[in-house]
Amino acid sequence: MSSSLPTTQLAWVFHKHGDPTSVLHLEKDYPVPIPSAQQILVRVHAVALNPFAYKAIAAPLTPFLFKKPGVPEADFSGVVVAESRESGLKIGQEVFGQVPALLVLRKGLGSLCQYVICEPALVTLKPPNVSHEHAASFPLAGLTAYAALVRHGGMKHGDGKRVFVNGGSGGVGAWAIQIAKAKGAYVVSTCSPSTRAFVTSLGADATVDYRSVQPSLPAHLAESYPVSDPDKAFDIIIDAVGTTVGRLYAACPAFLKAGGVYVDVAGTAHVDGLRSALSALGGLANRVLRPAWLGGTRRRYVPLLLNAKEMSEELQEAAELLASGTLKPPIDSVWRFENAREAYPKIMSGRARGKLVVAVD
Ligand SMILES: NC(=O)c1ccc[n+]([C@@H]2O[C@H](COP(=O)([O-])OP(=O)(O)OC[C@H]3O[C@@H](n4cnc5c(N)ncnc54)[C@H](OP(=O)(O)O)[C@@H]3O)[C@@H](O)[C@H]2O)c1
Repeated sequence: MSSSLPTTQLAWVFHKHGDPTSVLHLEKDYPVPIPSAQQILVRVHAVALNPFAYKAIAAPLTPFLFKKPGVPEADFSGVVVAESRESGLKIGQEVFGQVPALLVLRKGLGSLCQYVICEPALVTLKPPNVSHEHAASFPLAGLTAYAALVRHGGMKHGDGKRVFVNGGSGGVGAWAIQIAKAKGAYVVSTCSPSTRAFVTSLGADATVDYRSVQPSLPAHLAESYPVSDPDKAFDIIIDAVGTTVGRLYAACPAFLKAGGVYVDVAGTAHVDGLRSALSALGGLANRVLRPAWLGGTRRRYVPLLLNAKEMSEELQEAAELLASGTLKPPIDSVWRFENAREAYPKIMSGRARGKLVVAVD
């Protein structure tokens, strides 16, 4: 690594688990990580927040799984300051990408700081006409949407898939709607009245107000998108909400085609103690393991974990779609680096409209 690089940096760090607004602190002399021969080092210009980071900081049951002290977050956009031969990227190039979630959790090497190490499989060149703030808003949520739609949903350009997005106004949902539309799909999304215009602006063909739909969301979907009508029923369901997954998945054979897939990206959305953790695990095991002949739901269920590894192809496609304006960054708000901690109550409220981004100057 070049000797002209600093050895310390500004970084948001947590030394113990708890509420991010009390355990995250801005440190002025945190060590700059040293990349391996395969990794590159990036001077960070923007970071996007994702729910997994506050869940990891606040997790009451699993602190031993996560490295401390640690820097949270995974998404970044910035400039290469130390290159690796394998990446093909050069010092001075503008890039965006994602630190693998396991590197954040197990090594504490997140992106909410000035210098981040990353791996070639999860980084690509940032188009010059896309700002760092906009580029940083894509990787983790956008690649999750790609994984759900393309890798698990089998979506191909122009194949006319019908998609239901539960939680279309959040980070994952906002990218999922746009990626599905870019591939020519028909998209229905839940939203509340306050986010309806936003979800429609992303391209959703129809919206469902999950707060007031009668008699219930599953019953409404069964009536409006019945599996008996292949022109109406869905091929892919992406659930980015989680709290209702038990009921929605159990009811989905009424509105998800027999060959369709239910991708649960929210996972353990609201675990706040031993009881809810056991209940979430029990529900998950039931959905994954219970066969149809024992009363299980007759539809494929995919729990999507933070498993992004080799996704440079999707990242490059996203870069092109961002550059052409086909994908529009769904930015809720941009925060100054020194105020990053103040953004956490917003993302933890579950009411963020798209992505929260931190500008790092
Ligand atoms: N598996 C993975 O790789 C992966 C990756 C990223 C995220 N995730 C997980 O996916 C989940 C969603 O993440 P995110 O970043 O998209 O979340 P988010 O940005 O926090 O989602 C907030 C949005 O959810 C909507 N919402 C809240 N309750 C809802 C409900 N009952 N029905 C429909 N919409 C509802 C809100 O819209 P209204 O204000 O209109 O209600 C709000 O706009 C989180 O649990 C996160 O941890 C998983």
